[in-house]
Amino acid sequence: MSEQLTIALSKGRIFKETLPLLAHAGIEPVDDPETSRKLILDTNHDDVKLVIIRASDVPTYVQYGAADLGVAGKDVLMEHGGEGLYEPLDLRIACCRLMVAGREPWSEQATRLRIATKYVNSARRYFAGRGLQVEIIKLYGSMELAPLVGLSDLIVDVVDTGNTLKANGLQPLETIADISSRLVVNKASMKRKHARVQAFIDQIAEAVRKQEEAA
Ligand code: ATP
Ligand code: PRP
Repeated sequence: MSEQLTIALSKGRIFKETLPLLAHAGIEPVDDPETSRKLILDTNHDDVKLVIIRASDVPTYVQYGAADLGVAGKDVLMEHGGEGLYEPLDLRIACCRLMVAGREPWSEQATRLRIATKYVNSARRYFAGRGLQVEIIKLYGSMELAPLVGLSDLIVDVVDTGNTLKANGLQPLETIADISSRLVVNKASMKRKHARVQAFIDQIAEAVRKQEEAA
């Protein structure tokens, strides 16, 4: 019997956008995570399982070897720090930007700006690099609300079309990083299951290339 491979994915856009890449590697889930309550999904291969978890938990599962591989946004990986992980492949899916946004540009004279975000590490690093002292307020979602109700001066969040900012009277102000989703691999799995994992990475890399060519 060949070695088991466990792949960590989050529901929603990452699952949807990863499916065609997995299909190229011949892997198809048996259940749909949007309708199934199962957290471990079987695939058409007995030795490949998908675990369905929160997007921000993917690096943790892979770091500890609870999953051999995973798909996570660069925003999530920057926040996690990447310990225990290899990041061999940019999948070029779920593309967006990690940005600073607010009602209006901030004054360089402002002291102790308040920043609401779920990206506390990235935000702290970014403003420290800009030489600004800030107070970070940790939120878990709907960051766009914070400046509207006086909770913060600015937010740090991902932006794609800009529609969410616009609908809430906010402006994109500065880009912290261009974001796409990455394939991540547990460092021990990369050693112990090298041939299997490398073959999987190669198949996914080819799928990404084909998808790019077709776009
Ligand atoms: P969690 O469930 O952990 O709070 P989440 O709700 O941010 O995570 P998703 O909305 O599925 O999870 O986002 C997954 C990834 O997709 C993000 O980490 C980011 O890299 C990317 N992403 C988020 N929003 C957008 C968007 N509007 N357009 C394109 N990509 C996005
Ligand atoms: C993300 C993000 C922004 C929005 C940006 O939310 O948190 O609110 O997308 O996209 P836009 O620039 O195209 O409007 P998402 O739609 O994933 O909702 P969720 O994080 O609440 O699931």
